[in-house]
Amino acid sequence: MCGIVGYIGTKRSYPILMKGLHRLEYRGYDSAGCALISDEDNNLHVYKAKGKVSDLEATANEKDTTGTLGIAHTRWATHGIPSEVNAHPHISESGNITLVHNGIIENYVTLREQLKKRGFTFHSETDTEVLVQLIEYTQNKLGCGLGNAVRNALRLVVGAYAIAVIDKRHPDQLVAARKSSPLAVGVVEDNSEFFLASDASPIVEYTNQIVYLKDEEVAIIQRNHPLKVYNLKGTEADTEVKEVDLDLSMLDHEGYPHFMLKEIFDQPNVLKDCMRGRVVESPYSHAPQVILSAVTNNRRQLLRARRIVIVSCGTSWHAGLIGKQLIEHFCRIPVEVAYASEFRYSEPVIEHDDVIIPISQSGETADTLAAIQLAKQQGALVYGIVNGVGSSIARESDTGTYIHVGPEIGVASTKAFTGQVTVLTMLALALGMIKGTVEQDEYEATIRELQLIPTKIEKILLQNDKIKNLASIFTYAKNFLYLGRGYNYPVALEGALKLKEISYIHAEGYPAAEMKHGPIALIDEEMPVVFLTNHHRRYQKVISNLQEVISRHGRILAIIEEGDEQVKNMVTDFIEVPSTLSCLAPLLSVIPLQLLSYHIAVARGLNVDQPRNLAKSVTVE
Ligand code: G6P
Repeated sequence: MCGIVGYIGTKRSYPILMKGLHRLEYRGYDSAGCALISDEDNNLHVYKAKGKVSDLEATANEKDTTGTLGIAHTRWATHGIPSEVNAHPHISESGNITLVHNGIIENYVTLREQLKKRGFTFHSETDTEVLVQLIEYTQNKLGCGLGNAVRNALRLVVGAYAIAVIDKRHPDQLVAARKSSPLAVGVVEDNSEFFLASDASPIVEYTNQIVYLKDEEVAIIQRNHPLKVYNLKGTEADTEVKEVDLDLSMLDHEGYPHFMLKEIFDQPNVLKDCMRGRVVESPYSHAPQVILSAVTNNRRQLLRARRIVIVSCGTSWHAGLIGKQLIEHFCRIPVEVAYASEFRYSEPVIEHDDVIIPISQSGETADTLAAIQLAKQQGALVYGIVNGVGSSIARESDTGTYIHVGPEIGVASTKAFTGQVTVLTMLALALGMIKGTVEQDEYEATIRELQLIPTKIEKILLQNDKIKNLASIFTYAKNFLYLGRGYNYPVALEGALKLKEISYIHAEGYPAAEMKHGPIALIDEEMPVVFLTNHHRRYQKVISNLQEVISRHGRILAIIEEGDEQVKNMVTDFIEVPSTLSCLAPLLSVIPLQLLSYHIAVARGLNVDQPRNLAKSVTVE
């Protein structure tokens, strides 16, 4: 986690850095800081604040924020509480060098003890401070420039880092490096300026020419000189400039009070983007078909897959549970769904004919990344389903399908979830077709129905006001139960997670029939139960589960299929969703749950886009 930004060029760096930090606040927002080399006195000015980027701006207000070189940081605390002293940038003993860091230095205790013995003093509780002192120590010892000092210091470091370093004696230079944490450098044609950031979002409005640093690469960035990149041994590395096209409007609320609400309402459009060029009409028969280049290009390996393992975290793991049902149904290949953090340390048996599917919105989740690195070592094919274009997981995957839903800024994932489920549906259909495990009729009917999903979501979104009113009834609940079966069971988990994340209300998702084996004891008139009764193949069984809750005076909010008079007659509170196929039900049933948690959190006066303790991109274990 944590977001870093850097700028060197011809413009004033401070406004560029602050705008960049705001774009990266989804990565962490417990404290922020910046370091600038002033035009007025050529000195280094460091400003820090506990809290959000806006608190940093208030602190720096009316201070000297001149200069065309600077670095900045927004923090998600790992080592040391959120405080001004623990906020980055950290400064070296002499006060010459300063640095911002995203990642974790695992051997920082040993390094710190060694540096203390050599006279270095430490002020913060962070692991990061050791880096800046180590760079200064290396520079003094080797008598070298900043770039070589960074490179040699990093050879002693165990852990993950993306860093930006400046030295006040060299106001023409910015040094950056990365390992396991992402870092992008924006370049302009005449090399007059460079932009540095944890992802492309702070860069794209200035340039779309981006170099993504690779693991253990150090970039030496100098005004009016071409970008130079070296590996830790000092050998110059090739740089590949990628053209990145990001829709800037996606980085703005656009009139919505929060990113989360905007992103919920984005879903009809972004799901069309996700399907564009992939769900197409056959030019010969005009029958609909799914074409995924990753499936076509890896046909042989996919066809021989005896097992698929999905690895992911959080909301992406819930999408994986739906993916399992889709792939098993359409392709008849056994699928396991693992939490990436458990998988990587579980001594997993991975065969060379396994296919590993990492699912990740950010493409940077440390555990998911480590899980696929492990799978690759065993020779399995890694098929990434990722939103972050050019992200670490996308680059590490052998092949894959981007979900293409645009940047997701709200910490609670919404459109990425439906994008992931859409890609998983397309993957299951495409693979099922080449395997011959899906009938042509079912294949076509499912694709036709998938094409209707964006319009059906629009219909649900029209009920926003109704859901807001329902939310007000449940705002003061202390616990919630979410129940669903089959394809709707992972949706129950996701609904509960959404509520926990942004409303801080304890919620549990359960398979509806399992309720009898424990959670039923919790049910009384105080306990809201969100029941997903829609689109289940064994509808009558879900109705029996619903009846069991009613008999115990549970407070039910039912998500029902449009016109379901049976459930309407049983409950007071319900939200209708259009009919669809049961395998596509999650794409509809999750929408009212997203809106419900959003409105409950807003009614409780909480910061929906930046809930406490969470970060959007978890780049630490
Ligand atoms: C964090 C985010 C979640 C996300 C999870 C996995 O916990 O807050 O919204 O689902 O990480 O992230 P990924 O980017 O790999 O999907």
